[in-house]
Amino acid sequence: MRILVTGGTGFIGSHTLVELYAAGHETIVVDNLSNSNPVALERVEALVGKKIPFYQLDIRDRESLNQMMEQNHFDACIHFAGLKAVGESVEKPWEYYENNIGGTLTLLDVMRRHGCKNIIFSSSATVYGDPAMIPITEACPKGNCTNPYGKTKSMLEEIMMDMQKADKEWNVVLLRYFNPIGAHPSGTIGENPNGIPNNLMPYITQVAVGKRPELGVFGNDYDTPDGTGVRDYIHVVDLAKGHVAALQAIERKCGCAIYNLGTGQGYTVLQLVKTFEKVNNIKIPYSIKPRRAGDIAICYSNPAKAEKELGWKAERGLEDMCRDSWNWQRNNPEGYGGVES
Ligand code: NAD
Ligand code: UD1
Repeated sequence: MRILVTGGTGFIGSHTLVELYAAGHETIVVDNLSNSNPVALERVEALVGKKIPFYQLDIRDRESLNQMMEQNHFDACIHFAGLKAVGESVEKPWEYYENNIGGTLTLLDVMRRHGCKNIIFSSSATVYGDPAMIPITEACPKGNCTNPYGKTKSMLEEIMMDMQKADKEWNVVLLRYFNPIGAHPSGTIGENPNGIPNNLMPYITQVAVGKRPELGVFGNDYDTPDGTGVRDYIHVVDLAKGHVAALQAIERKCGCAIYNLGTGQGYTVLQLVKTFEKVNNIKIPYSIKPRRAGDIAICYSNPAKAEKELGWKAERGLEDMCRDSWNWQRNNPEGYGGVES
């Protein structure tokens, strides 16, 4: 298929490009580079052995999107473009609603005007809020999102479902990611966070590489095996392959379909730290800090639906995730070419 990939120079987008080409698809990438570096695309091109057409544009820019769509035909769009920092979204709610919701509304409109009504959307387990069931199936009711970032995901799901209800030509696949970590085993592409990382794994790798003195563990009094938070960490290469598998749903004209992309396995913060230390033979100093506002105790998926309907299953374990995250950070201590994106 010929696929428009928005946000394709970002963390998950870049890994997905590699898997799309491996499966024989063609892509065109759109990104405004607000949270990524064009070097990522050069690295992907080296991995896939092809030049990838790239448009540096903002999905809120209707004119540029129109022009790009006039020059290209697409069978489907995989839509990663969006802002994703939870804390920042609390500080700048307008910017998050305008970028994520405004941008997606423009994208959807330009797509339908050009007759492309197939979309795969990056949603998040955050839409379950404090989940009503563990493990979480897709039947779990959505919960209260405590921050604007999470609300944009939840609202965009509703918007796309309503559009599909009104116009059956649309096929909408909502992928709810659990916690993506790891990197391509080549160590040439990976996560390149801006400033102080919010998420656990990039923080750990920055401690490992000597950029930060120690990890703060947010709370050890949760009702979990060791008191620290439990999450469903998924290797980004498995997640990327989940998008290739999701194209099958588009091909069989799914209407609207929702899938959890997780491993089904929950690990605590300290289990992740210990595994990282063991696999990479590096000590990660840490201290216990107060709970982080908005955190939940336990979140892990039941990924059976994606396996049953898409034949997709995560194959990489926690040790692979820890090894590949470190391999990326060690080989690229300053991210892409030392240029902070
Ligand atoms: P990322 O920031 O690395 O990638 C997002 C890309 O979108 C960036 O390259 C950025 O420059 C681009 N972008 C942002 N706004 C844009 C705009 N208006 N026009 C064009 N490009 C724009 O993030 P990621 O981790 O690769 O996440 C990809 C998607 O998956 C996001 O929508 C994110 O919210 C979602 N998601 C991520 C996680 C996670 O833990 N990483 C979890 C759940 C969902
Ligand atoms: C966070 C976001 C979620 C988003 C996801 C992916 C919050 C409340 N939730 O999920 O909306 O979809 O990232 O971007 O921010 N931890 C530490 N020390 C750290 C960092 C994290 O102990 O320095 C702990 C957390 O308390 C949590 C676990 O590690 O128990 C994972 O945290 P993180 O990687 O930030 O992911 P989530 O909180 O699950």
